[in-house]
Amino acid sequence: MWREQHSRRRGWLIALAVLAVIAPVIAVTLRHQRANAAIARALLVSYPQDVTAHPALVRFADSQARPLYARYCAACHGADMRGNTTIGAPSFVDHDWLWGNGSVFQIERIILYGIRSGNPKALNVTDMPALGLMGRVSDGQIRELVQYLMKLNHRPYDAEAANAGETLFHSDQVNCYDCHGSDAHGNADYGAPNLTLDVWYNGGNQQSIYDSIYYGRHRIMPAWGSVLSLEQIRALAVYLHEAAKNAPPRAARPDANDASGANDANGTNDASGTNDGNGGDANALE
Ligand code: HEC
Ligand code: HEC
Repeated sequence: MWREQHSRRRGWLIALAVLAVIAPVIAVTLRHQRANAAIARALLVSYPQDVTAHPALVRFADSQARPLYARYCAACHGADMRGNTTIGAPSFVDHDWLWGNGSVFQIERIILYGIRSGNPKALNVTDMPALGLMGRVSDGQIRELVQYLMKLNHRPYDAEAANAGETLFHSDQVNCYDCHGSDAHGNADYGAPNLTLDVWYNGGNQQSIYDSIYYGRHRIMPAWGSVLSLEQIRALAVYLHEAAKNAPPRAARPDANDASGANDANGTNDASGTNDGNGGDANALE
């Protein structure tokens, strides 16, 4: 009898001791959860453009976004965020936004609705037309256009072909300038890339560039609105915005032909004045 009472009391003492140890842990966890819920709410109710002014919100978005990025985005955009030219998924660690101005608001809309995704709110203004396949340009003309693009990108080029390509680029036969701009700096309303930065979504060798003009391009970014919550999408948008903001600046590149002196004789290399990789960049971040 005495022994039974004694062991029951001991049982109670052990239970109390355990409670004394775990109670503060539970309290801390609950407080942490409440704080997290508060910061998650703040992330969601802030204006998108205001979030980045608050380091605590950015840190929180970053911690939420990392695992989401690895799970949903890395397969196409790369675990290192540097993109993948075989499927045309852009890098996020540069200052070039193909669409819009790279604001958190704009990035968020892209994640929500996608690009040419089939969602009615997706960005879908135009494709790169299959100009070769449609017979709008001949094989030789595409080669000339490629040489003009080589010139614009400070890569070695054939001067005569590049001049012919330049004329073609600005002609009404193919309207390149209509979408990519007469300075070839692109158009962020159409998602038409800047063709002067030597940044190529579909591969930058001459054959890939030829293929872009011959077969056209129709890249698709899926819509995530039905997969991810609004809070997750906001966290990802902030994460990508910061990745681009912290990317190293682009280095200026000398003209490859000028360096070799090969084309200086005809004096046409710099005549167009469009060779400065950074000047007036329509896609530059804010
Ligand atoms: C199936 C491949 C694929 C997956 C998965 C994918 N993307 Fe994309 N994404 C693309 C392609 C391709 C483009 C380029 C579309 C275009 O602009 O023509 C793109 C473009 C974007 C852009 C616009 C970039 C710019 O320069 O304007 C953003 C932002 C983006 N993706 C974010 C994400 C995020 C965040 C995820 C994960 C939730 C994700 N993507 C998952 C293929 C993918
Ligand atoms: C109707 C609008 C339009 C016209 C006209 C047009 N483009 Fe494009 N171009 C685009 C769009 C949009 C893209 C991006 C499409 C995509 O990747 O899905 C693109 C992509 C490209 C690319 C691939 C870029 C990369 O990063 O891989 C090249 C090269 C290109 N265009 C060159 C030209 C040339 C040269 C002409 C004229 C012969 C031309 N484009 C005419 C809209 C146009």
